[in-house]
Amino acid sequence: MGKLFVRKPLSLLLSEADNSEKGLKRTLSAGSLIALGIGAIIGAGLFVRTATAAGQHAGSAVTISFIIAAVGCAFAGLCYAEFASMIPIAGSAYTYSYATLGELVAWIIGWDLVLEYALGAATVAISWSEYLNKLCVSLFNFSIPYQWCHSPLQSSADGVSGIINLPAVLILFLLSMLLIRGIQQSAVVNAIIVIVKVAIVILFICLGWKFINPANHTPYLIPADAGTISMGGDKLLDYGKFWNHGWGGVVSGAGVVFFAFIGFDAVSTAAQETKNPKKAMPIGILVSLVICTVLYILFSHVMTGVAPYKDFVTAGSEASVAYTIDTYMPGYHWLSLFVTIAILAGFSSVILVMLLGQTRVFFSMAKDGLVPPVFAKLHPKFRTPYKSQWLFFAFVSVFAAFLPESIVGDMTSIGTLFAFILVCIGIIVMRKRNPEIPRAFKTPWVPLVPILGAFVCLLMVVGLGLPNWLRLIGWLIIGFFIYFGYSVKHSKARKL
Ligand code: ALA
Repeated sequence: MGKLFVRKPLSLLLSEADNSEKGLKRTLSAGSLIALGIGAIIGAGLFVRTATAAGQHAGSAVTISFIIAAVGCAFAGLCYAEFASMIPIAGSAYTYSYATLGELVAWIIGWDLVLEYALGAATVAISWSEYLNKLCVSLFNFSIPYQWCHSPLQSSADGVSGIINLPAVLILFLLSMLLIRGIQQSAVVNAIIVIVKVAIVILFICLGWKFINPANHTPYLIPADAGTISMGGDKLLDYGKFWNHGWGGVVSGAGVVFFAFIGFDAVSTAAQETKNPKKAMPIGILVSLVICTVLYILFSHVMTGVAPYKDFVTAGSEASVAYTIDTYMPGYHWLSLFVTIAILAGFSSVILVMLLGQTRVFFSMAKDGLVPPVFAKLHPKFRTPYKSQWLFFAFVSVFAAFLPESIVGDMTSIGTLFAFILVCIGIIVMRKRNPEIPRAFKTPWVPLVPILGAFVCLLMVVGLGLPNWLRLIGWLIIGFFIYFGYSVKHSKARKL
C-alpha cells in the first residue's frame, strides 16, 4: 500500500526514451503548433455532435455550450502544457503523471485515456458510418440496410431495429491494418486534410448564412415547454427535463460538444520539439482553441439557423450537415457531396491518430509493468505494437458495432474531462511539492487557472448526467480491479 504513490525516476524515463526521441529537434514554431492543433481537433465533434447537443439539449444556444467547453479546455490546456514542459521527453499525461504524481494517479489517468482514445475512435468510426451511408445514397441512390449500420439499441422511425454497425468496424479494421504496417500519416497528407477541413467549415458558414431563418433562433435557449419528441423507434425525448432545456441544457450541451475539442492536448505533447516553448506553447494551445471556437460558434449558429433544432432529433439526426444542406439549401447538393467526402477523409485521420495514441499509451504502460507485456510486443518486421493494435481493434469494434454514437461519445467526453480535472489538480500539487523542478512553461495565475479549469470541467461532467457518471465510475472500478489484481504485482517502479 505504501507504494501507491511511487514515482518513476526521471533518469529511467530519459534512458528509456528512444534515441530519435532524445534527439528531437526544436523545429516547431507557434504557427506549426496551431496547425497541429487544428488538425487534431476538428472532426466528429463538430460535424455530428453539434447536432446532437442542439437537438437534445441546447437548441441554438449550442453556441454558448461551445464557449463553456472552450473555456474549460483553455484552462486545462495551460496546465497540461506545464506538465509537458517539466518532463523533457515527448509523452502523454500518463507518462508525465507517473514521474510527478505517482503510480496510482498515473494508472487512473492511463486507464482514463482508454476512454479518450479507444472510445473516441469508436465514436468517430460510428460517425464515419453515418456519412458513408449518406455518400452511398447521394452517389448510387443506395442506402445500407438500417440493421447493418446501427447498434441494437437503435431503431428507425419505421420500427427496424439495428443489429451491428458493420461500416464502423470496417473502417477500424482498415486503419488498424495501416497502423500495423507502420504507415503513419505524412505531414503533407495531414496539411491537406487540415486545409480541406477548415475549408468546408468556412464554406458552410459563408454559403449557409443567407439561408438562416431567424425564427429558428427564437427563442435562443430551448424553452421548458418545448414538449416531447420521438427519437426514432419508441424512445422519447422530454424537453421538460432539467438537462434538456434552458441553462441546464446549455451546460449539458457543453459536455456533449466538449468532444469537438478533444485532441488539442496533442499540441502540448510537442513541447520538446518547439522553438521557445515558453512563448510558443501557450500561443499554440490558445490560438488553435480560439480559432476552432470561433469556427464552431459560427458553424453551429448557421446550422441551427438553417434547420430547426428538433430536426436533429428526427430526420436530421444522422449526417446532420449533409442533411441540413440537402433539406434547407436548395441548389447546393454539390456542397453536401463535397462536405460528405471531406468529412469521410477528415474522420479517417482522426481515427488513425486516436488508435495510434491508444496503443502508444498502453505500450508505455506495458513497459512499466502496469499492463501485460503483450501490449509492448513489436512486430518483427514492421516494428509496430501489432498485437496491441489487434487487441484494441477488437475492443474498439465492440463499442462501435453495438452501441450508439451518443453513448460512446459521452463516455469519451466524461473520461477525458476527468483526466483534465486530475491534470489541473496535479499542477497545484506539483507547485507545492516540487517547486524546484525546472519548467520550460509555467501555467499563469496558479492556483486560479487550475482551479477554474477543474471547476469548468467538473461542471461539464455534472451536465453529462447520471448514466454517464455511473459509466465512468464503473470504468474506474474495473480499472482498480486490474490495478490491484495485476499492476501492483508487476510494476517495475516498485521493484527499483
Ligand atoms: N475532436 C475530435 C473530433 O471532434 C476528436 O472528432
